[in-house]
Amino acid sequence: MLFMCHQMAMKKEAQEKQEKAEQLRKAQAVSDIPIIWILGGPGCGKGTQCAKIVEKYGFTHLSSGDLLREEVASGSDKGRQLQEIMTSGGLVPNAEVLSLLHAAVTRTKGSSKGFLIDGYPREKNQGIEFEQKIAPADLALYFDCSEDTMLKRILARANAAEVKRADDNEETIRSRLQTFKRNTSAILDLYADKTLTINAERDVDDIFMEVVEVIDCVLQKKQRAAKVC
Ligand code: AP5
Ligand code: MG
Repeated sequence: MLFMCHQMAMKKEAQEKQEKAEQLRKAQAVSDIPIIWILGGPGCGKGTQCAKIVEKYGFTHLSSGDLLREEVASGSDKGRQLQEIMTSGGLVPNAEVLSLLHAAVTRTKGSSKGFLIDGYPREKNQGIEFEQKIAPADLALYFDCSEDTMLKRILARANAAEVKRADDNEETIRSRLQTFKRNTSAILDLYADKTLTINAERDVDDIFMEVVEVIDCVLQKKQRAAKVC
């Protein structure tokens, strides 16, 4: 009996070791290409800058908000629960967001030149879990913008849109701003060594020039690291 228990424990240990090695292997494969977190409050211009980065570098743009809205649009029960949280301006549980991101990274990593993870992390544990379960981020771009400007930009977007986002109304925007204010300084402190803060209260193209400088730098660093390996 004792012998059988010992054998089962050994088997479990071997299985766990194999799973860990597999996780590490997958993380390393993703780490060969740049992973960039795109941070900033609601309406600061994350999506706008991501579109320009995609155009120039051909990276894969994964917006946590877009992935969640796709889930909502599917009409599933889970989608209805997500919609409720999103229209309250709160944060969806990380298990949901991370699993959508994980699936999207896994689906596209074979053909991707780099990942833009837009709207993530929104609180520091999201960053920790992402790096444990997917791969370390090379860079975080934080688009710094005043609340007043962000509010105005979203209201202007809502006015111009044919289909308005359910969370683009003044009450929800104010709540989104509160959620953002509550969580962001902890993220910026934790990831200070890989975060670049960019003044987002400027012309879209001026902001992008700064973005290009830092992405070029990351790409050069990756290339040099690949040669050494
Ligand atoms: P999400 O969809 O990510 O929304 P958000 O963070 O509130 O940001 P937006 O998409 O509204 O704005 P943006 O920064 O992309 O700005 P844009 O480029 O469009 O998330 C929605 C919700 O999903 C969250 O509230 C939460 O509930 C949930 N969620 C998402 N991620 C989550 C996570 N990680 N964990 C938990 N829950 C999560 O620009 C806005 C407007 O300004 C546009 O009209 C644009 O043309 C204009 N504009 C942009 N740049 C400039 C500029 N420089 N000058 C003038 N106008 C500009
Ligand atoms: Mg966006």
